[in-house]
Amino acid sequence: MKYPNLFQPCQLGSLMLKNRLVMSPMTMNYATEEGLATDKLIHYYVERAKGGVGLIVVEGTFFTAEGRGYRNQLGLVSEEHVKRLRQLTDMVHRLNNDVKIFIQIHHAGGRANSKVTGLRPVAPSDLPAYPGAEVPRSLTREEVRDLIEAHIEAAIRAREAGFDGVDIHSAHGYLIPSFLSPLSNRRSDEYGGDLSGRSRFLLEVVHGIKKRLGKDFPLTIKVSGDEFIEGGLGLEEMTQVALLSQEAGIDAIMVSAGSVGAKKLGDLNEPHKILRTLPMMTGHGCLVPLAAHMKQALRIPVITVGRINHPALAEEIIVQGKADLVAMGRPLLADPYLPQKASEGKEDWIRPCIACNEGCYKRIFEQLDIQCSVNPLLGREKEAFPEPEVRGKKIFVVGAGPAGLEAAHAAWERGHRVSVIERSKDLGGQLNLASIPPGRKEIEAFKTFLLNRLKRTEVKVVMGRKAVGSFIKRGRPDGVILATGAQPRSQHIPGVEKIRTMTAWEILSGEKEPEGVCLVLGAGLVGCETADHLGERGMRVILVEVLPEIAAGADADTKTYFNMRFKEKGVEVYTGTELLGMERELAVLKQGSEKIRVQIGTLVFAVGAEPNDGLYDELVRAGIKVVKVGDCVKPRGILEAVREGFEAGRNV
Ligand SMILES: Cc1cc2nc3c(=O)[nH]c(=O)nc-3n(C[C@H](O)[C@H](O)[C@H](O)COP(=O)(O)O)c2cc1C
Ligand code: SF4
Repeated sequence: MKYPNLFQPCQLGSLMLKNRLVMSPMTMNYATEEGLATDKLIHYYVERAKGGVGLIVVEGTFFTAEGRGYRNQLGLVSEEHVKRLRQLTDMVHRLNNDVKIFIQIHHAGGRANSKVTGLRPVAPSDLPAYPGAEVPRSLTREEVRDLIEAHIEAAIRAREAGFDGVDIHSAHGYLIPSFLSPLSNRRSDEYGGDLSGRSRFLLEVVHGIKKRLGKDFPLTIKVSGDEFIEGGLGLEEMTQVALLSQEAGIDAIMVSAGSVGAKKLGDLNEPHKILRTLPMMTGHGCLVPLAAHMKQALRIPVITVGRINHPALAEEIIVQGKADLVAMGRPLLADPYLPQKASEGKEDWIRPCIACNEGCYKRIFEQLDIQCSVNPLLGREKEAFPEPEVRGKKIFVVGAGPAGLEAAHAAWERGHRVSVIERSKDLGGQLNLASIPPGRKEIEAFKTFLLNRLKRTEVKVVMGRKAVGSFIKRGRPDGVILATGAQPRSQHIPGVEKIRTMTAWEILSGEKEPEGVCLVLGAGLVGCETADHLGERGMRVILVEVLPEIAAGADADTKTYFNMRFKEKGVEVYTGTELLGMERELAVLKQGSEKIRVQIGTLVFAVGAEPNDGLYDELVRAGIKVVKVGDCVKPRGILEAVREGFEAGRNV
């Protein structure tokens, strides 16, 4: 077996885990509005259990009406909740592959959402969880005691539902950490004050659960090893909390990080301290030092989590004694079979999480169900697909970007004879450009995966061939999947003929070299990435956007990242600004009623893209069955490209 240390059993309280890989809890928004487990949710977990992980920690689950954070969050309140969850634990235990399953009990505290609950959030003190958040109601002493009891009763229900153990969510600025943190807990009773007072809530929950369920019922906590916020809880104090929790009887601790609220001042050399959703700009295993520090002080197993998406890194962490177990969250959304493939030494087969956050974090904050950019089957584990074709059809896939490559593979899996036709000399399409700007290299891993997977098929690849209509018609395919992507949009600017112009794509691909001061027109994602890329090369960059903000539509961490990078690299940002035209080398900008003239050397267009679907009508006219996928339908991201490609390949 590959990675012998990772796949060694581990004692956790009274339980023996078959290996040291843990699935980190992740709210999926797959439950009903009442919080009941759906078939979709159950099969999602069963698939992860089949994939070989040693311990699954089911997502943060609400157990009081006001403590709910998400509309379709899983609940553990009534008999009905217990009954549905019992189906999940039964199915996992019946698999007979010895996987253990815990559930995380979760009260969102000041981070609960009154639009979801209809109730004002509650917290130790009436301080908003972060600037602009709802002001919560401060809990009375009696209510605090009731909430401790509610945690204990939720744990009892968890055992009734057949879980092997319970995890208490004590991280990320929700209720329990807001008791722990001096920033959010200003109580003057015994649940506030010094660290022992602020820890009392958590410790009474731990004591209560252990007393009622017995010391052999496994209990873990997940904490933020460092909140990474100004005035928040740091590693030394959190280690004290961990020691107290160990004395109170917890059997293991998972060490995450971060909270909500004002970030510590810092630079982007340590982006994990600023970007709490750990996007691709953060380092692999960036939170391991926090776990390693705690491990020095504790005797119970320590679980590390955060940006560990390769088994080799997980093995190294165990070998070096930095943690006893390694938890993965997003990597197991991307590929539930990661553990099995790792143990068999099939690393190339693992569909890698690229930490893009597009399908997961971004959607959860929009109250949507979780999807995954690289895994079109997430949340559809039990869906029935068409039977494989006995006599395969002849299918042409035009374009070898993510949509085309996914379509080709899915069509080949159905038994079709598939050819991919790509006009350039590289496969991967937009993935090639997307991985060039600073901090985006991880995208390459997905391209590598797609290409390795393609090599294991009989799909024929024709490169450097523009698929003109006549060529396709001569081939007489039974169907064509058009994945020809998009092309940059242009915009007429008066006087532009007097200046050097190019598109963002031409810069990123290295096709054209900018000179002098670069004015990047458009601060969507591509514009921001191009400005960042040029700034990194030491060029003077002016970024102009007509909207009031940059990276509109992106998640909060992406916006923070660009704002910090631009400050660091001296990129000059003009929002709410129009480019009226060029007067020779002078760009004339209009910001409100003010006109600004700046001298530039190159004008870079990043004003969006439009579908490159010129072939479609011609093929339809020739009577060929064609389906468009990805950017050639409408320019969007990897998630849509992969989903549509998969769908088309499966159904062609
Ligand atoms: C969609 C999503 C939902 C999450 N929900 C929870 C949760 O309910 N409880 C929790 O402790 N952590 C939650 N997390 C954090 C993960 O458990 C994990 O700590 C984080 O994703 C970093 O690990 P990774 O890089 O392996 O994904 C969530 C993460 C994601 C992406
Ligand atoms: S959406 Fe992106 S970050 Fe989330 S699991 Fe998938 S690849 Fe990873």
